[in-house]
Amino acid sequence: MQLFIDTADLQEARRAAGLGVISGATTNPKLAAAAAPGDFEQRIRQMLDIVSGPISVEVLAENADDMLVEAADYAAWDPRIAVKIPLTLEGLPVIRQLERERDIRVNVTCMMNANQALLALMAGASYVSLFVGRISDMGYDAYAVIAETADLIERGGFGGRIIAGSMRQVGDIQRSFQAGAHIVTTQYDYLAQMAHHPRTVETIEEFKQAWDQAQRQGDLR
Ligand code: E4P
Repeated sequence: MQLFIDTADLQEARRAAGLGVISGATTNPKLAAAAAPGDFEQRIRQMLDIVSGPISVEVLAENADDMLVEAADYAAWDPRIAVKIPLTLEGLPVIRQLERERDIRVNVTCMMNANQALLALMAGASYVSLFVGRISDMGYDAYAVIAETADLIERGGFGGRIIAGSMRQVGDIQRSFQAGAHIVTTQYDYLAQMAHHPRTVETIEEFKQAWDQAQRQGDLR
């Protein structure tokens, strides 16, 4: 099980990496647009300095030839770049070419069901990204989709790993792992919420007060 940070914001990436539990990062064009403007390549290079492990960068091209060119461009920035290819009929042959012929890791993205994930796995994708929040928004059971995909990986002996993304609440993270996700990519705020419990805060305070009182009474030195 691994946690990735889902951001193109350097400050958020730094805060997440500082927690010591992050094994990679995912970005997408919307996240990149929301982060401060500037040179995209430079931003990704800065992310590579901050976060260890793979960093996913998504192509914007919509036809296969242009996707290949764009993907090769991103992959040339660093061996840790995984190229995100959205699951479309156009993108499908690109996955195999990048993985098998060019030795570029592919994260197949924007997927909403196990049929799509199965195609991505058969094409040889290293990562298959299922969008939990967006699947739930449509009224489907996102955890069933993760479990079905995990089962297909097991039965088919595929090498791809499931990334659960599109987290909408802190509980989505644990539930995604329990359903069979290998990786969850999430925002910093949910990581912070995972660490927080009001009873933990109260307990720490209670212990501190007991210590302080004993010191005041001279029982502790
Ligand atoms: C994952 O790789 C995506 O970047 C992300 O989780 C998409 O989430 P959204 O549904 O919040 O856009």
